[in-house]
Amino acid sequence: MKLAIIGAGNVGGSLGAAWAQKAGHEIFFGVRDPQADKTKALVQKLGGKARAGTAAEAARFGEMIVLTTPWIAAEAAIRSMGDLSGKILLDATNPLVMGPDGLGLEIGHSISAGEKVQSWAKGASVFKTLNTTGFGNMAEPVFHGVKSVMFVAGDDAANKPKVIAVVAQLGFDVIDAGPLRNARLLEAHAMLWIDLALKRGQGRDFAFAVLRR
Ligand SMILES: NC(=O)c1ccc[n+]([C@@H]2O[C@H](COP(=O)([O-])OP(=O)(O)OC[C@H]3O[C@@H](n4cnc5c(N)ncnc54)[C@H](OP(=O)(O)O)[C@@H]3O)[C@@H](O)[C@H]2O)c1
Repeated sequence: MKLAIIGAGNVGGSLGAAWAQKAGHEIFFGVRDPQADKTKALVQKLGGKARAGTAAEAARFGEMIVLTTPWIAAEAAIRSMGDLSGKILLDATNPLVMGPDGLGLEIGHSISAGEKVQSWAKGASVFKTLNTTGFGNMAEPVFHGVKSVMFVAGDDAANKPKVIAVVAQLGFDVIDAGPLRNARLLEAHAMLWIDLALKRGQGRDFAFAVLRR
């Protein structure tokens, strides 16, 4: 599949490498400076499976688009992609802001980043996913044979199975978490992971998994 990844940092780079290497997808990184040394090194690492260009070029290329910019850059990045009508957009952002007690959510009870992204990406089908664990776990989601969990929230029932399948190719146990408004829950869940990782001594090498009877 042709995948556009907007942003090529911790999350974008990890996802691009994992999808190229585990599933053979073609990756187009949409970045502000395609000639930056770090972007060139990433593209080179992925061999013939990856290229980089502008966000608009990436969006035209991708059957799915994955948004992996910092929250503060999300609106500008979406606008820079141009017309997104009919596109599937996976939103991996978390609306983080630095407060007196460290990182927290800027919004959450009455609106989410996922819903804001949908309001900016007019005509696209937005899914909230790939935001609830660290980028290292996106590269290696399996812990001692147990898959860590990843949620997908979105309103487009027809395209949701495709999104679940592409996220599952990374190695996650993927759960349909309902409508896009449940991004409010997923972003709070991400904040729990971040708080445990950064402030409660868990570090980045842990993840949540689901047990079933
Ligand atoms: N880090 C994690 O473990 C983690 C886990 C889950 C979710 N998230 C979320 O994922 C997002 C990315 O996090 P990250 O750690 O990967 O950040 P990062 O390493 O700083 O990477 C962000 C990327 O976005 C690019 N970018 C910034 N503005 C852009 C624009 N207007 N158009 C296109 N690309 C743009 C940056 O390019 P430049 O190099 O040019 O600035 C960079 O490649 C955040 O919203 C974060 O909350 C992070």
